[in-house]
Amino acid sequence: MTISIRQIHPVFVGEVKGVDLRRPLSAEDVEAIEAGMARYAVLVFHDQPLSDEQQVDFSRNFGEIELAVGSNVTRPEDRRIPVELADISNLDRDHQVFARDDRRRMFNLGNELWHSDSSFRAIPAKYSLLSGRVVPKAGGNTEFADMRAAYDALDDETKAEVEDLICEHSLIYSRGLLGFAEFTAEEKVTFAPVRQRLVRTHPVTGRKSLFLASHAGAIVGWPVPEARAFLREMVEHATQRAFVHAHQWRQHDLVIWDNRQTMHRARRYKADEVRDMRRTTIAGDGPTVAQADDAEAPPAARA
Ligand SMILES: [Fe+2]
Repeated sequence: MTISIRQIHPVFVGEVKGVDLRRPLSAEDVEAIEAGMARYAVLVFHDQPLSDEQQVDFSRNFGEIELAVGSNVTRPEDRRIPVELADISNLDRDHQVFARDDRRRMFNLGNELWHSDSSFRAIPAKYSLLSGRVVPKAGGNTEFADMRAAYDALDDETKAEVEDLICEHSLIYSRGLLGFAEFTAEEKVTFAPVRQRLVRTHPVTGRKSLFLASHAGAIVGWPVPEARAFLREMVEHATQRAFVHAHQWRQHDLVIWDNRQTMHRARRYKADEVRDMRRTTIAGDGPTVAQADDAEAPPAARA
């Protein structure tokens, strides 16, 4: 079998054929997928019925796994699946659908806002790999937006204005947009804002992209309302339909996206239907910018 990739959207997204992800991959296959990710930013694989272990093994081809800690309000003892996988489902530890007003469900509804995974971490994620184990009959699409196309379409004046802007990202900002504002003292510490550049350059292709997310709630040096109005305008620009692909899930699809050059969001589905998706996440190489406390700390404290 040889891997082949067909572009299925005018600006990005490839559909991959000719590989069984349950088996160990050759170095050539891994290279072909990495090259496809650099070029298309999102890759879709159909008919890949993976176990958790197979998904983790396959993911390790692309770097270190980012563990699913510090990104949710679910307590460790209530986890349904291993910590190498983020639980993108509406199910509790006993595989029962969350009540409509369950705090964990309400927090997870933040996934319906445009975002880049783990932009609220000092080292944001490289890839996300999402496996559709049980998909709802209707709704529940994942939409992707190409942040390279969004950057390219800015006028020169705006490109110059955004070039060196630093944003602050936090789960508290994205959840706040939905009126989810009650956090414990511990959650406030875990979800403390981190700094991210607004413009990133891809390490492989050298293309620039906008690093946006609903987690971004401030711009360093800007008044908050001006920053939020500007970020909202940027997100509107970046998610115009010409830059967006809607993935309609089939059971056993695996979709990989590059968080450094795309945003995504989940779409609504019925509250009482099961949606069991499991995500492995590949950690990024490093921060996009120094954190505030790095810069302010005396040199001795930074060692
Ligand atoms: Fe996400």
